[in-house]
Amino acid sequence: MSKRKFLFAANWKMNKRVSDVAPFIADLNRELELLKGKVAQDFEVVIAPPATHLLPAVDSSKNTAIQIGAQNCGHAKSGAFTGEISPQVLKEIHCEWVILGHSERRHLYLEDDARILGRLKAAWDEQLKVILCVGETLPERKGQRTTQVVERQLQILREASGIPEDRLVVAYEPVWAIGTGENATPDQAQEVHQFIRNWLKSNFSNSASEKTRILYGGSVKPDNSQELMGKPDVDGFLVGGASLEVSSFLGIIKNAFKSRG
Ligand code: 13P
Repeated sequence: MSKRKFLFAANWKMNKRVSDVAPFIADLNRELELLKGKVAQDFEVVIAPPATHLLPAVDSSKNTAIQIGAQNCGHAKSGAFTGEISPQVLKEIHCEWVILGHSERRHLYLEDDARILGRLKAAWDEQLKVILCVGETLPERKGQRTTQVVERQLQILREASGIPEDRLVVAYEPVWAIGTGENATPDQAQEVHQFIRNWLKSNFSNSASEKTRILYGGSVKPDNSQELMGKPDVDGFLVGGASLEVSSFLGIIKNAFKSRG
């Protein structure tokens, strides 16, 4: 198995104030520098705050190894698209990452695969790194349709005409585990992660399958990160609630490292 660099991404959703950004990043950076594993060398950390917080976040993270991501982006560089965020401007402000297809976007704002594909292409046109979220609802899991749903959500990668291997991360986030306190078991996560990795292999290449990091998201906490990370196809986490405090986000990172020695 090729060595993939762990990735810990914080999805702040619509939380925190702009004035929280600088102290959070300074505190987190101080703590990251004390860890045994070294950020940038052994693992990566991405913070995805709300759009209003991106500029100060990019500013505060200068001279640190912390990277910044947006929570969504538009499907075009510019134009009459009220409320959208231009991927070109994300690049202009040095925001390198973007989360796409989050379940809250899919379910609360009715973003379908076609819309997410447009955003994906536009993000890649600007050389942004994408965290593409996939995952099934509870009825879909109960109906044994998990892999079918995930496979359908992955299809947009085929339609994107080639994936830039170094700019794709897939996050498996079962909808029933998001914000519920009920995480997927390590075996449940591994089963779907392995499915995703095999899908990448049969639809793209060995190298795409080996290089692409597959994150787990859904009620990740310091006390379950070690066990989840013990699975071979779990390459990191996309964390919601527990990423809002430096102590719990850091606890997740520290414990995850215990599982890999
Ligand atoms: P929670 O960690 O709060 O369950 O949220 C997961 C998530 O949606 C991350 O994108």
